[in-house]
Amino acid sequence: MIAIEGLSKSFETARRSSHTALADISLNVAAGEFVSILGPSGCGKSTLLYIVGGFVPPTEGTVAVNGKPVTGPGPDRGPVFQEFALFPWKTVLGNVMYGLLERGMARSKAEERARALIGLVHLKGYEHFYPKELSGGMKQRVAIARTLAYGPSILLMDEPFGALDAHTRTGLQNELLDIWERDRKTVLFVTHSVEEAVFLSDRVVVLTRSPGRIKQTVAIGLSRPRRRAQLLVDRRYQTLVVDIERLMDAPEEAP
Ligand SMILES: Nc1ncnc2c1ncn2[C@@H]1O[C@H](COP(=O)(O)OP(=O)(O)OP(=O)(O)O)[C@@H](O)[C@H]1O
Ligand SMILES: [Mg+2]
Repeated sequence: MIAIEGLSKSFETARRSSHTALADISLNVAAGEFVSILGPSGCGKSTLLYIVGGFVPPTEGTVAVNGKPVTGPGPDRGPVFQEFALFPWKTVLGNVMYGLLERGMARSKAEERARALIGLVHLKGYEHFYPKELSGGMKQRVAIARTLAYGPSILLMDEPFGALDAHTRTGLQNELLDIWERDRKTVLFVTHSVEEAVFLSDRVVVLTRSPGRIKQTVAIGLSRPRRRAQLLVDRRYQTLVVDIERLMDAPEEAP
């Protein structure tokens, strides 16, 4: 579904020297697969997601979605990035409806769909609240509902739960898995948390220090549906977490 081939990205810096953020990334993600990207800060994880989203062009290599080269953003790929703030002057309902109205959906239909999604992310009763009246976790759920509203088959999630407390984060992980198990969306998920990556994913891709290359891809063969409380005492889960942590700490071989 997502075919990334020989992808590299260099940025021109202010001093005119070029800085390589990503080097030679090749990765195929199957339809309905949940893939997480782990790696040190600055290794190019966000850059990779922006390129797949079509927000940033690659320097070398190609990205194709369903066989079609990515040349810009599209409704098939839904970003959930922390920087994509909600509209502060719109209510929860207004924020979730926004993309639907933009795309020409009739108001009554857009409202019906938005209300259903607000229920899905457990925000029923908050339809007329403004973002500033919501907690961080609630805002992030609105952002997820807003992205789900226009029905992307691919979710591109850049540390969507990074700023949340552990309890809220766990709740949202469970909600995301529920949604994913229902709709089987293809998910590319960036996180700093090894536990989060193992809990959620079918595969975890570990990148090297900058410039990011693929260090190793680890298949997470844990059965689904997954329950966090059960996994925490599951030896296979614990082993995967420890192995991936070791992998991230291991010195890098020269390319
Ligand atoms: N627009 C830009 N212009 C110049 N350099 C950039 C730009 N965007 C990113 N970079 C550089 O590319 C590298 C990778 O950045 P990126 O944000 O992708 O890292 P990251 O893995 O997401 O880091 P973090 O885990 O801290 O979010 C960094 O060295 C950064 O300085
Ligand atoms: Mg980032």
